[in-house]
Amino acid sequence: MKTLVTGGAGFIGSHLVDALLAAGDEVTVLDDLSTGRLANLADHIIDSGFHFVEGSILDARLVDSLVAEADRVFHLAAAVGVKLIVEHPLESLRTNIHGTENVLEACTAHHVRLLLASTSEVYGKNESDSLSEEADRILGSALKSRWSYAAAKGIDESFAYAYFTEYGLPVSIVRLFNTVGPRQTGRYGMVVPNLVGQALAGDSLTVFGDGRQTRCFSYVGDIVPALIRLSETDESLGQAVNLGGAQEISILDLASRAIDVTGSSSGIVFVPYSEAYAPGYEDMRRRVPDNSKAAGLIGFVPRTGVDEILQRVADGLRSTPHLNDELMIRSRQSRQARAQVML
Ligand SMILES: NC(=O)c1ccc[n+]([C@@H]2O[C@H](COP(=O)([O-])OP(=O)(O)OC[C@H]3O[C@@H](n4cnc5c(N)ncnc54)[C@H](O)[C@@H]3O)[C@@H](O)[C@H]2O)c1
Repeated sequence: MKTLVTGGAGFIGSHLVDALLAAGDEVTVLDDLSTGRLANLADHIIDSGFHFVEGSILDARLVDSLVAEADRVFHLAAAVGVKLIVEHPLESLRTNIHGTENVLEACTAHHVRLLLASTSEVYGKNESDSLSEEADRILGSALKSRWSYAAAKGIDESFAYAYFTEYGLPVSIVRLFNTVGPRQTGRYGMVVPNLVGQALAGDSLTVFGDGRQTRCFSYVGDIVPALIRLSETDESLGQAVNLGGAQEISILDLASRAIDVTGSSSGIVFVPYSEAYAPGYEDMRRRVPDNSKAAGLIGFVPRTGVDEILQRVADGLRSTPHLNDELMIRSRQSRQARAQVML
């Protein structure tokens, strides 16, 4: 099978590429290397079944030519991470809306099966016990760039559904909830690599707000097989499917676990959202997935617990010195810049 992965040099995309190549697919990656890294794909550079194309999903012709040669497409390329989106709202909107439409157009034109990566961010501030795919979206003001990622991904989903209903595009949508694991960079505000990197560096772990906000982290090694199975399950066509972790944990507890798991002597500092982001920044207190649809469709069960995830992230950072250096430099900069309250 010939598979195109947009965003395949990124965190999740590169793990997906590993799995697809191991399963015998011929894989082409389209990535502009804006947040992704060739180092994530280093193991495959000499593999004859692997092709890398440096380019943008905003290049409609390029996208069309690559999709024309593919049997299926995983569309993961996106401007990702709240920090990146807040700092570069226009570029992020263009990538996440126009770029995705290029992929949808090309897959429709060539009738190629598509799996579209969306996000739990589309639920916005809905803090229900367990968010099913039918749950309402509660977003803040359209003029707050913090919500533009959620808005753009929501539009992507609506576009995809319209291509499905009007043109019969074979598309499945996956809503990922805080996927974490080795190779994820903390550069754009991702909490797990940031906390583990700080713990390994012996720096204070920075927790935003009061740290009582909760999330359900899922391990990339649980998510990637689910993406592949969903792309092969016809019952998922025209549907959005949640994929998230099973264990709800506060960010403060996550920081404590990171310290324990790494054997660090670091402390924890609280940083107000107004210092971490722009004043008026909004966050949701909790976000809990209802995974029952994925369980029914493909038998999805998120098996990897928080401590094991943190251990694997720490192992990944230890064996990837450039990622660790980057985290330590940032950690030092933030230490100097902030008045901190020690726990
Ligand atoms: N990591 C998570 O917790 C999470 C949660 C929800 C949804 N997602 C979605 O999963 C997908 C992958 O996210 P990730 O965490 O691996 O992030 P990532 O930043 O590591 O991967 C995104 C990749 O897309 C590439 N890219 C960005 N703009 C591009 C463009 N214009 N053309 C070509 N390539 C481009 C980047 O270089 C990068 O390799 C994204 O669609 C994201 O929205 C991720």
